[in-house]
Amino acid sequence: MAREQAGVCAEGNLHGLYLLFDCHEGSEAAIRSQLAEISHYLDEASEQYCEVAFSGFIAIGANYWSQLYGDTGPALLRPFPSLGCDDRHAPANPYDLFIHIRCDRADINHLVGNEICLMLEDLATIVEQVNGFRYLDSRDLTGFVDGTENPKGIHRQKVALVGEEDSEFRGGSYIHIQRYRHDLKKWNQLKVKNQEDIIGRTKEDNQEYTSFNKPKTSHIRRAAIKDGNGKSLEILRQSMPYGDMQEQGLFFISCCSTPNNFELMLQSMIMSDHKGHYDHLLDFTQAISGAAFFAPSMTFLAHHA
Ligand code: HEM
Repeated sequence: MAREQAGVCAEGNLHGLYLLFDCHEGSEAAIRSQLAEISHYLDEASEQYCEVAFSGFIAIGANYWSQLYGDTGPALLRPFPSLGCDDRHAPANPYDLFIHIRCDRADINHLVGNEICLMLEDLATIVEQVNGFRYLDSRDLTGFVDGTENPKGIHRQKVALVGEEDSEFRGGSYIHIQRYRHDLKKWNQLKVKNQEDIIGRTKEDNQEYTSFNKPKTSHIRRAAIKDGNGKSLEILRQSMPYGDMQEQGLFFISCCSTPNNFELMLQSMIMSDHKGHYDHLLDFTQAISGAAFFAPSMTFLAHHA
């Protein structure tokens, strides 16, 4: 039975630490073995720091997978779809590794992050690191509650984890990240009603607009995608606000049993439909980076050390 990495489906925390690495060529064997060690270490840390709900996961870049584990990979693993339409862009960065560390204390995340960097010393170079934090009552920095329609309870596993359809990779998850930088000055000049029309929910009390009132350009209209049978396509979002007084926004994270759902949502947000509708939230925020990964089960990491 494949054991998933606990951080993939974990409930929200107060703090997140996101570490992105490029791996040194020729170090693959040592990296495989260290990744198994790190996943074991994260597992131990979740016991040691259980009172602050510690968890984490390791994800391997879509462009790096075959170099690390050979040609047999998760059936649907592919590079991040770099999309663009008018001035809306989703840049792609071929990061090799993403390590997600999270709990309710920023100092514990920092301590674990330092340990992990030591374990990868001489094997990989850290290329981006971001601290995420809970803002107010789980709001994005736009002031809107984020995560309301996320899958709940055991349904999180169903949405986020690969099942029997790809048995060797069972318990793993397709991960997409995007670091969005908000133009809060521009956003905060809007009237609250205009902001609400852009999100498709009310701001203060987080009520969803009726489908009649929900603009076709609202974020939740563009992101809520259905398949041919009218069934909702879902992702598990593990995003958090990040930043400082100079640059701030959302570190978006999607975990899913397939890359298709994220790709279709992103496409619907960015690309105009035949009537020119796109996600108007993108007039106030810009993706600065983006990448696709696979977070294998702990069992896979241990077996391929
Ligand atoms: C700056 C970037 C983003 C911000 C600030 C943002 C914010 C929000 C907010 C406030 C909601 C409504 C509450 C909720 O259900 O969580 C929401 C819903 C949602 N977002 Fe985003 N989001 C961002 C990017 C994305 C991206 C890139 C995707 C996927 C590609 C996405 C997918 C979704 C989905 C699936 C929902 C739920 C829709 C529903 O069924 O009602 N979001 N987002």
